[in-house]
Amino acid sequence: MAVTRTFSIIKPDATRRNLTGAVTKMLEEAGLRVVASKRIRMTREQAEGFYAVHKERPFFGELVEFMTSGPVVVQVLEGVDAVKRNRDVMGATNPADAAEGTIRKTHAESIEANTVHGSDSEENAKIEIEFFFGEDEIVG
Ligand code: CMP
Repeated sequence: MAVTRTFSIIKPDATRRNLTGAVTKMLEEAGLRVVASKRIRMTREQAEGFYAVHKERPFFGELVEFMTSGPVVVQVLEGVDAVKRNRDVMGATNPADAAEGTIRKTHAESIEANTVHGSDSEENAKIEIEFFFGEDEIVG
């Protein structure tokens, strides 16, 4: 298995509860390395652009409101089979369905305030990384 990259967001529900370190620790213990990280307040334009694939969904407006409601930490994670490794440690989108020991089971408040985002494919990881980071900001 190759070492690859994925994209992660620690969402406003987690930064509000001061869980940036706790979430990052779970990512690291899952074998992922944080090779880029920055705390930002997403603009409405960034949130709408990032989640454009969901723009027809009924929850799109609320999702944009939530993602701009407080600071987030955007990260590039590196590891063996990083996309799958990250999705495994995040757990299911809805914390009610997430397995024990996952980030969302441990920390998420709801399907919307679900603590973390992670890319769902290598192709999307590349697009999402480029949305927030220049190559010079990624230092393995
Ligand atoms: P994320 O991985 O960031 O990608 C899209 C987000 O939309 C998802 O996590 C959830 O936080 C959110 N989402 C998905 N389904 C719903 C839903 N039914 N209601 C509210 N938010 C949702």
